[in-house]
Amino acid sequence: MSHLLVTGGAGFIGANFVHYWRQHHPQDSVTVLDALTYAGNRANLAGANSVQLVEGDIRDTPLIEGLLRDHAIDTIVHFAAESHVDRSIHGPAAFVETNVIGTMNLLTAARAVWLADGGKPHRFHHVSTDEVYGTLGPNDPPFNETTAYAPNSPYSASKAASDHLVRAWHHTYGLQVTTSNCSNNYGPYQFPEKLIPLFLINALHGRPLPIYGDGMQIRDWLHVEDHCRGIEAVLHHGRVGETYCIGGGAELPNITVIDTLCAAVDAAFAADPALAARFPEAPAARGIPTASLKTTVADRPGHDRRYAIDETRARAEIGYAPARDFKTGFAATLAWYLANEPWWRGVLDGSYRNWVETNYAAR
Ligand code: NAD
Ligand code: DAU
Repeated sequence: MSHLLVTGGAGFIGANFVHYWRQHHPQDSVTVLDALTYAGNRANLAGANSVQLVEGDIRDTPLIEGLLRDHAIDTIVHFAAESHVDRSIHGPAAFVETNVIGTMNLLTAARAVWLADGGKPHRFHHVSTDEVYGTLGPNDPPFNETTAYAPNSPYSASKAASDHLVRAWHHTYGLQVTTSNCSNNYGPYQFPEKLIPLFLINALHGRPLPIYGDGMQIRDWLHVEDHCRGIEAVLHHGRVGETYCIGGGAELPNITVIDTLCAAVDAAFAADPALAARFPEAPAARGIPTASLKTTVADRPGHDRRYAIDETRARAEIGYAPARDFKTGFAATLAWYLANEPWWRGVLDGSYRNWVETNYAAR
């Protein structure tokens, strides 16, 4: 039996991980530490039984040391972060505070508690991103664990710094760490500022779909449940001190993702007349193609052109392979958002409109 502390467990991937872990490892205890920023929501954990949510900040070292001791934590799965690239461009300081200082605090607390008494078995798993490797040209080989770090945004620079700190706490102090660097996640509970949920909810409200630049940037789309399986594989089979790249095997230009989304929304409205009554502002409610909302806007400053993952190490060492192709994963995600309107209305709570308007105003 393990005792997990999941930081950022009320956010998108963290909450999916908590649900996954409750389902697959019901014998383990799970404590969530989350500051409940705009991106963290109690509603994301609804239905996750026997999970204790502690509202708190990863920069609060005494709080973390207390949790590690009182809950006999032996495994930290560290998701907590500021995660949105556009926000990092507008306000980098919060990214350094949480992603760099916060990670250092967690490491410091883990060292103080876990290594003080001779080092009981423990694991600090750090969840990171492929963005630390920078950007690829069209013919470059995909990122792997030996690719040089070259972060291009304040977000990816802060994540790169956190990766280095995790590595240093292993080499210097002997903390038992692993790191995973994964590609773009999608699926349930993703806050509607990221491409897929933002465009979907804009489409339902007849708002423009703001395509940055030429829309030919490439991402490798990873269904969040596959990511959770990948982290599970690292926790169970990964080598301490190692990093593992986790991808979805679905390299797609943004425009393809957007066209898939538009066509899927049109098909959903055609198949279910009740959707027109629920979302009368959607063009699809009047038989107008959702693609009519596509709007080219100024490109994101420093926009990385292409990400791709070579997951050879994860496949060979820990038996990881993505189970969902993009078509299936996307269809399930669209169905989830249509079936969970109260969830996204609840988490938006006005901030979506503000964010969209601020974002447009800045361009
Ligand atoms: P998210 O923004 O949806 O959730 C982040 C969570 O962290 C929120 O619940 C928030 O309240 C919490 N948090 C923020 N600051 C905190 C603090 N100071 N103390 C405690 N909690 C705090 O992010 P996500 O998309 O779920 O990403 C989770 C992790 O995975 C991040 O580390 C991110 O860098 C990484 N990652 C994300 C993706 C992706 O596609 N979303 C891909 C690769 C890596
Ligand atoms: O690669 C992993 C990363 O994926 C994670 O580390 C980040 O936390 C996560 O946010 C994500 O970063 P991206 O910047 O790739 O994701 P985002 O959803 O913001 O954008 C995906 C692509 O879509 C990107 O090329 C920018 C583009 N885009 C995005 C938005 C929000 C648009 O064209 N228009 C938009 O309005």
